[in-house]
Amino acid sequence: MDDDFVAPDHTIVDGLLVRPWRRGDGPALAATTNASHAHLAPWMSWSTGDDTPARSEARAQSFAGRYLAREDFVLSIWDGDELVGGSGFHPRWGGIETRVAEIGMWISADRAGRGVGTTVLRGVVAWGLSDAWPWDRLMWLCDAENIASARVAQKAGFTLEGSLRGPGPSGDGVGRDATLVFGLNRGDPHSSGRPGATGTDADGADRDGDSP
Ligand SMILES: CC(C)(COP(=O)(O)OP(=O)(O)OC[C@H]1O[C@@H](n2cnc3c(N)ncnc32)[C@H](O)[C@@H]1OP(=O)(O)O)[C@@H](O)C(=O)NCCC(=O)NCCS
Repeated sequence: MDDDFVAPDHTIVDGLLVRPWRRGDGPALAATTNASHAHLAPWMSWSTGDDTPARSEARAQSFAGRYLAREDFVLSIWDGDELVGGSGFHPRWGGIETRVAEIGMWISADRAGRGVGTTVLRGVVAWGLSDAWPWDRLMWLCDAENIASARVAQKAGFTLEGSLRGPGPSGDGVGRDATLVFGLNRGDPHSSGRPGATGTDADGADRDGDSP
């Protein structure tokens, strides 16, 4: 891993801003995840439904710090001023030196089931495999019963590589009797993240630009 790697500060996917969390994001994070609790809780153990703005602000600032420290790259997804979800590149498979990242994602209850997850995941995959990031391999793990998650991974070009008879390594799953393991390597047929059009600028062309 290059010592001078600096994680990019945003990309745009089909008009949605994908960027690291910042100071001040706490109230939106609390409001959106609380409103989406019933939708998120079966799959995301961090969804409690009663997060306070202050507690979520602490999380947002922790995410921001870890992003700058190149420890974990947690991302937020915005439609204008509206928080519509989260994603991230998590170096859970040996650190960034391995050039392997696990992608995570959630979409708010209001927006889920309308193609947003597919569009954003395709854009994030394309961004992750661009020159902006060090990744050669991306992974996606989900509960075997999480139909939407497995489907969105397949639609973004991931290959189902196997399953685990228990939870994955992230520790953020709930009740995982079985975990599906998907992978996408640089050079795979869909490694551009484009089984379909995304409208993303995720080729990294403006990765040095300031976030709007
Ligand atoms: C998983 C998630 C990110 C997918 O995003 P999304 O915007 O809802 O997905 P899309 O609308 O792009 O749909 C993708 C596919 O999943 C299917 N799908 C979506 N919601 C579904 C549901 N509740 N049940 C079954 N299939 C569903 C869609 O039909 C589509 O497949 P198709 O094209 O074959 O019809 C989102 O639903 C979510 O946030 N879920 C809760 C958190 C979570 O599980 N995150 C992933 C953890 S591994």
